[in-house]
Amino acid sequence: MVHSSHFLASLLLVVLFNVAKGQPLVPALFIFGDSVVDVGNNNQLPTIVKSNFLPYGRDFQNHQPTGRFCNGKLATDLTAENLGFTSYPPAYMNLKTKGNNLLNGANFASGASGYYEPTAKLYHAIPLSQQLEHYKESQNILVGVAGKSNASSIISGAIYLISAGSSDFVQNYYINPLLYKVYTADQFSDILIQCYASFIQNLYGLGARRIGVTTLAPVGCLPAAITLFGHDSNQCVARLNNDAVNFNRKLNTTSQSLQKSLPGLKLVLLDIYQPLYDLVTKPSENGFAEARRACCGTGLLETSILCNQKSIGTCANASEYVFWDGFHPSEAANQVLAGDLIAAGISLIS
Ligand SMILES: *[C@@H]1O[C@H](CO)[C@@H](O)[C@H](O)[C@H]1NC(C)=O
Ligand SMILES: *[C@@H]1O[C@H](CO)[C@@H](O)[C@H](O)[C@H]1NC(C)=O
Ligand SMILES: *[C@@H]1O[C@H](CO)[C@@H](O)[C@H](O)[C@H]1NC(C)=O
Repeated sequence: MVHSSHFLASLLLVVLFNVAKGQPLVPALFIFGDSVVDVGNNNQLPTIVKSNFLPYGRDFQNHQPTGRFCNGKLATDLTAENLGFTSYPPAYMNLKTKGNNLLNGANFASGASGYYEPTAKLYHAIPLSQQLEHYKESQNILVGVAGKSNASSIISGAIYLISAGSSDFVQNYYINPLLYKVYTADQFSDILIQCYASFIQNLYGLGARRIGVTTLAPVGCLPAAITLFGHDSNQCVARLNNDAVNFNRKLNTTSQSLQKSLPGLKLVLLDIYQPLYDLVTKPSENGFAEARRACCGTGLLETSILCNQKSIGTCANASEYVFWDGFHPSEAANQVLAGDLIAAGISLIS
């Protein structure tokens, strides 16, 4: 134990040293998934799942909304900073020209997308299969701007982050009788896990070798989930959290077998369940004052178009709120989560 924490400390020193030299630890960062990591891809889509208007982004650079579902930075933005990048991987759909700006990676994520393709279709978001197509296009562009050999070292050296599953449950399964009347949550998890496994195999097939996957959040603790499924209680919904724990267990087993069957792959689970659960259940220990209500609007439900400048009740300062809107953590909570992500993901850069 002493040994491993010493090892971790040395690695962190190496990280800080390299970052201090102004050199990112890996050549590029490619991001896939849902609204937890979307940085504006949905702006271009005919979907209601958007956040490119205030008060979203009010604490971001220049107080500008970008399409991030947050008041400020996402956990992945902070992770990019921790890895030494001086800019964030751009939203692929927002790039008018694509060339050198893909050299440090790109973000393909789309709010309301998920492992289960019909989730994205329901909301006119970009399914993971299409995100992968966009990544394939990026590879071709990279070969064009950097040459074949440089492109292949970018592709194999890059970190790939995937964050999905929340929308599959909260914006689809739990509210969709065509799913919850047909499948138990356990069966639905199995379907998602199959989609996850083929996504990883395809990404590996395209050359990815360092992949980090976030676990499912404690979805029963999201303000909107408590309002919708909590039967007038203000507590996290145990049934939903149990489903998340069960899903995460399957994610772990399947990741271990993928890791074994795909030579040269580093596949790491980045746990956000426990850190977010701790923030919600013990907010004051972590410097937060409010975990039930989100900052935006009443804080009980609103997200995307329902969280806007006319929403009544939006808090003046989100820094003591765990949640920014009914579904998404605040930048302050993301700061805490990003610390856990880098600690869990250290084996991807070593
Ligand atoms: C490949 O990378 C090297 C080192 O960064 C650089 O000097 C070279 O110009 C690159 N090749 C192309 C075709 O861009
Ligand atoms: C799965 O869980 C075990 C035990 O907690 C852990 O050691 C392992 O790293 C996890 N696997 C992955 C792929 O994260
Ligand atoms: C919010 O409050 C924190 C802590 O009290 C303070 O540091 C920060 O500047 C405030 N932010 C804004 C936008 O007022």
